Amino acid sequence: MKKLVNVLLKKERFEKPPVWIMRQAGRYLPEYLEVRSKAGSFLDLCYNPKLASEVTLQPIRRFDFDAAIIFSDILVIPDALGVKVEFVKNEGPKLGDFELKNLKRENLAKHLSPVFEALQLTKSKLDKDKTLIGFSGAPWTLASYMIEKGGSKNFEATRRFAIEKEAEFSALIEILTDSIIEYLSLQIQAGVDVVKIFDSWAGVLPPAELQKWVFEPAKKIVQAIKKNHPQIPLIYFPRGIGMNYEDFARDVAPHGLALDQTIEKNWAKQNLQQKHQQVIQGNLDNFLLAFGKKSEIEKEVMAILESFGDYPFVFNLGHGILPQTPIANLEIVLKTLRKS
Ligand code: CP3
Repeated sequence: MKKLVNVLLKKERFEKPPVWIMRQAGRYLPEYLEVRSKAGSFLDLCYNPKLASEVTLQPIRRFDFDAAIIFSDILVIPDALGVKVEFVKNEGPKLGDFELKNLKRENLAKHLSPVFEALQLTKSKLDKDKTLIGFSGAPWTLASYMIEKGGSKNFEATRRFAIEKEAEFSALIEILTDSIIEYLSLQIQAGVDVVKIFDSWAGVLPPAELQKWVFEPAKKIVQAIKKNHPQIPLIYFPRGIGMNYEDFARDVAPHGLALDQTIEKNWAKQNLQQKHQQVIQGNLDNFLLAFGKKSEIEKEVMAILESFGDYPFVFNLGHGILPQTPIANLEIVLKTLRKS
């Protein structure tokens, strides 16, 4: 039985909730670093089906997580649309210039075929009890990387673009939304059991723009997946939206809602689990996991279980695991979750 699918799709509650970790294949794992050092560039690794599948499976072998998330990146969509994407060591992603009219959606399926191959390979090797997760970035977050040409602290260029050239920005969001729906559908055809959407920078927008650039595209994506693939649950991560998580549960209603670590647990229990029967995923602080004492980590895992464990729930972090995280700290989390 795929525990994660059952929690999300059937709202089943487990005494020991399913667990996986955002960015579980990554630089905190020595076996990942070894493959990474031989793979060439980061995108070379993403587009190498054998190696991408191998690093996807590494954390499952080591930690017996309930789910494998395919090793890739949210920026493969701009890459597939024809924007130059590079990952510069210690600096993060760098993207090239683009013009709206030159974005090429028709190449998407072909360009991303190595991802689908990696998914098929991973599916064939994964235990039947494990869930395979596919993912995509959300329109707002992808647009921000495209307009900033990389990461950003305050999203000045994107905020300004969306205000000064709203029609053009809206057209970009629409292209991205349609690309995301197509990409997720192709991942589903390749065998994923669950899809997740990362809106990592949803939290920087004021209410009216949050509606336009986060909620509206999210509704379109969730409705398309629910209609075309009713057996495939979707987890949405509108990171940093605070109390707006309640409106998100009511208006977007994804199968699973991923909470970041700023969300107060009792508030979420009342306003998401009880009021909207929303299945939630989260939300251990990734900094506590990396830098906290054993006793503090244990205590926080217990507090999360106590708050969320009465309802269908998926254990995860509030954001991606940090490269500095000692493996022993993650082992403490799993031991605490799995002890009877
Ligand atoms: O979760 C997994 O293990 C699957 C793989 C995965 C990666 N990126 C691999 C990766 C997933 C799901 C992502 C999502 C992603 N990528 C997000 C959304 C989630 C979030 O953290 O908010 C974002 C915003 C990105 C964009 C991105 N990719 C950045 C900003 C960076 C550089 C900074 C960093 O954390 O390294 C990346 C690179 C990246 N993506 C790495 C990995 C393992 C590190 C690169 C390397 O190993 O050389």
